[in-house]
Amino acid sequence: MWILGIDTSCDDTGVGLVQDGRVVVNRVASQTLLHGRYGGVVPELASREHVQVIDGLVEEVLREAGLGLEALDLVAATRGPGLIGALLVGFTYAKGLAFALRKPFIAVHHLEGHIYAALAEHPEVRPPFLALVASGGHTHLFEVPAWGAYRLLGATLDDAAGEAFDKAARLLGLGYPGGPEIERLAVQGDPGRVPLSVPLSDQEGFSFSFSGLKTAVARALEKGYAPADIAARFQEVVVEHIAQVVGRAARKTGHTTLLVTGGVAQNRALRARLEGMGLRLCFPPRGLATDNGAMIALAAWHTLDRRSEGDLYLPAAPYLPLATS
Ligand code: KG4
Ligand code: ZN
Repeated sequence: MWILGIDTSCDDTGVGLVQDGRVVVNRVASQTLLHGRYGGVVPELASREHVQVIDGLVEEVLREAGLGLEALDLVAATRGPGLIGALLVGFTYAKGLAFALRKPFIAVHHLEGHIYAALAEHPEVRPPFLALVASGGHTHLFEVPAWGAYRLLGATLDDAAGEAFDKAARLLGLGYPGGPEIERLAVQGDPGRVPLSVPLSDQEGFSFSFSGLKTAVARALEKGYAPADIAARFQEVVVEHIAQVVGRAARKTGHTTLLVTGGVAQNRALRARLEGMGLRLCFPPRGLATDNGAMIALAAWHTLDRRSEGDLYLPAAPYLPLATS
């Protein structure tokens, strides 16, 4: 079964092709350069760029797989959450394509896409498990007690983890996206030189908070600390904060498997810190951590049997909770 998956929830046009649960082609048209000079995503520019590239990208993906449109068995696209103008481009395109081909259409939740991206590398994993989605737009910790059931344990109270990397990078005069830039600079710095403290370290719950760190980075710069030392300490503190929250969640729930997904899952310091916690870890394979279309096709494939028909009539949804309880 061939599934075409499309994601245009934010600033990247993602088109992927999955055959029987295996990723065959996964292409992302990145808008990094377009938004880079503004230090963040400009929604209207993102929507326009999606419109410009989506048709050509679908053609490219099919060509790479040596398939014609008629070979597709199903079309899936991100319904939400995301920027409404951006979402509408991929969601409406995918609906139109499915309708014209007389093939089924499946609406996918963006965060469910991220979760199935991590499972792509670990097909043997079964619930219950914890799933942390940490990206530019989300920092959500879910408990997944059974397939299709999502209990939100905690989320960010302010900025998302990736957003914190992006904002701190901007303050440090680095490029966008900030995560990889900070990771590179942090290697050259000494975290012990800069006094930044771990947010919410005395809480009993599972919330995240990153916006105070941004202010702390600005203050550290004013005080004259070296950018590399600030980057090193900032990354260490973000990683420690995440580790403390997931550690508490693992102890509280008793779950021993943790999925980490979204762009921030690529961070090597985070991986190294989590690896020392005695949990069974699942990260997405290369290219599937950040937004992409293959993860949407994967989510569609894995959730096919618990779907009802009628997704063609669903509207795109900028705010769309995943939690089922
Ligand atoms: O999942 P994603 O493509 O976008 C959203 O759905 O939001 O993630 C992009 C985010 C950006 O904020 C970027 O700075 C962050 O992921 N990111 C990283 C790393 N690579 C990407 N953060 C920390 N370390 C990295 N290596
Ligand atoms: Zn995402």
